[in-house]
Amino acid sequence: MKKKDFLTIRDWTPDEIMAVVQQALTLKQSGRDLARRPLEGYTLGLMFDKASTRTRVSFEVAMLRAGGGTIFLSRHDTQLSRNEALKDTAQVLSRYLDVLAIRTYSQEWVEEVARWADIPVINALTDLYHPCQILSDLMTVKEKKGSVRNLKIGWVGDGNNVAHSWIHAARKLGFELVLACPPGYAPKPEVLGEGAPNIRLTTDPAEAVRGADVLNTDVWTSMGQDAEREKRLQDFSRFQVNEALVALARPDVIVMHCLPAHREEEIASGVLDGPRSVVLDQAENKMYLHQALLETLLLA
Ligand code: CP
Ligand code: NVA
Repeated sequence: MKKKDFLTIRDWTPDEIMAVVQQALTLKQSGRDLARRPLEGYTLGLMFDKASTRTRVSFEVAMLRAGGGTIFLSRHDTQLSRNEALKDTAQVLSRYLDVLAIRTYSQEWVEEVARWADIPVINALTDLYHPCQILSDLMTVKEKKGSVRNLKIGWVGDGNNVAHSWIHAARKLGFELVLACPPGYAPKPEVLGEGAPNIRLTTDPAEAVRGADVLNTDVWTSMGQDAEREKRLQDFSRFQVNEALVALARPDVIVMHCLPAHREEEIASGVLDGPRSVVLDQAENKMYLHQALLETLLLA
C-alpha cells in the first residue's frame, strides 16, 4: 500500500481531515486506557531545526500513550549538517523509523524528504505552513462550537504559516474566513490562489472580528524573522487583539492563539488569560490530535 504523508491541509480531503479530528475528540472523550497500545513496536522520528515546546512534547507523549517510541533528532546533530545527501538520509531513516515528523524552514525541503522516504512524513511546521496546528485547532473549534461549518472565523495579524494553513482549511471545509493583515503582510498569493467566496482579506481588524464566532491570532514575528522584529512591531501596532477588539465579536466568541504568545504585542494579557480564551485547550488538544494522526498514518 502506498504510504500517506501529511505535508499540507491542501493534500487531504474534507473527509480525511474531519475523520482525524473526530478520532482525536474520541480519544479525548474516552479518557486514558493504559491497555490500549495500537502503536506498540512503532517508532516516530522527530527531526527539528526550529524551537518547539508544544509540538515536540505533544508528539512524544502521543506516541508514548499509543504504546510506541520516539527518537528526537536535532538536524544540526545529524550528518545533514555535514552535507550528507537528503536522499541518502531519507532512505536510511526509512529503514529505522516508521514515521518522521519534520520542523524546518523550507516547505520544499520537507516535500523532498517525503519524496525519498518510504515512510509517512509529517510537516510539523515550515515557514509556509503549519498543518498540524490547524488540525488540532479544528478539533478545538468542533469541541467548543459543535461543528466547524457555518462559522465566521476571524484572523488578525500576520499572513503567516498558520494563516496559510487556515486558508487551506477554509477552502476544504467552507467556513467563512476573514483575514485582517497590515499592508505588506497579507498571505502569499500562491496560497490564496484564485480566491474563494468564503475567504476575504482586509486591512481593518474590526472587519475580521465583527460577528466572529472564532478569533485567531499569532505572533507578529515568526521563527526566522527576528531581524525584522522592530519594523514589524511598528507595522502591526494597530493589530493587537485586546478587549476593545474582542468586544466586536459575538459574545460567545472563542479566542485562539497557537502559542507561544508575545503578551502585550499581538494579544493583551487580559484577553489571553480571559474568559473567552481557549489557548490552553488548544495546546492540550495537540496531544490527542497528534495521536489520532499517527494512528491514521500508521494503521489506516
Ligand atoms: N503551537 C506550536 O506549534 O507550538 P510550539 O512551537 O511550542 O511547538
Ligand atoms: N508563526 C509562528 C508559529 C509558531 C508555532 C512561527 O512560525 O514562529
